[in-house]
Amino acid sequence: MKPYVFISRKLPEDAIAMLKEKYTVEMWDKEDVPVPYDVLLQETRKADAILTMLSEPVNEEVLKAGEKLKIVANMAVGYDNVDVETAKRLGITVTNTPDVLNDSTADLTFALVLAAARRMVEAAEFVKEGNWKSWSPLLLAGQDVHHKTIGIVGMGNIGKTVAKRAAGFDMEILYHNRSRKPDAEQELGAQYVSFAELLKRSDFVVCLTPLTEETRDLFNRNAFRIMKDQAVFVNASRGPVVNENDLYEALKAGEIAAAGLDVFAEEPIGANHPLLELKNVVAMPHIGSASMETRYAMMKLCAENIDLILSEEQPKTPVN
Ligand code: GLV
Ligand code: GLV
Repeated sequence: MKPYVFISRKLPEDAIAMLKEKYTVEMWDKEDVPVPYDVLLQETRKADAILTMLSEPVNEEVLKAGEKLKIVANMAVGYDNVDVETAKRLGITVTNTPDVLNDSTADLTFALVLAAARRMVEAAEFVKEGNWKSWSPLLLAGQDVHHKTIGIVGMGNIGKTVAKRAAGFDMEILYHNRSRKPDAEQELGAQYVSFAELLKRSDFVVCLTPLTEETRDLFNRNAFRIMKDQAVFVNASRGPVVNENDLYEALKAGEIAAAGLDVFAEEPIGANHPLLELKNVVAMPHIGSASMETRYAMMKLCAENIDLILSEEQPKTPVN
């Protein structure tokens, strides 16, 4: 019997053709709706490999259900949705999709910096709603990005790729990270500073840190209070790194100027989410890596990792 691969979302046929040639492959048949938990559980019972999205909780129960399970190929660089410790204990490999998405995610992150600073979404809505009556000197005037200070929290490969873009805008680059990054310091002139100093000095605070128990609620009332009144906050990592109530209060009280958010504490958010009341919030539906090229590269990497594990070879991008 061929090994059984379950894919938790409908992916394009050409992206999984290689898997289909060699394995029995089943997919959850919807593109826009996550697989129900009980279906995930039931499919995992039969599976040698599962290819999952960040919307799936691959928890202890799921992992234990997978009696034959050898790999969880998570189609994201972040893997906070997977219980990696339990997987390790059960001898199940977990892979993610690093590097192939660095440039696309950095582009979107920097686009949020620009959009929030230059009020681009607000301005586009203004035109579409027919509010543009005349040119005027300070109409929708925002803040400059070039020659300002950017503070990157989480200087991994995406952080460094954002720093490269910032260097092109003649920005001063600060960063905070668990470990120092000498390459970013030498090549991009990035300066390592404490978290508090970064908050204090940055005009743009950009969050790219993974969600862990240490980073949950990292951006809270205290953090927003330390930031400049004119600061723009951008989050392109995971929602729960931010306390959204505190962010809302800080924006509303003018303790910071604007926010660009690609991620939220509980996704998806509806139109009644409090942050969406605020004109100075630019909200995106978690599309950091969402270019056609990059999403195909991520699917391909997941398929390769599965094929390697099922062929008893080393996966390309294991996390455990
Ligand atoms: C997206 O958020 C990812 O982790 O790839
Ligand atoms: C609450 O809204 C949180 O993000 O922690």
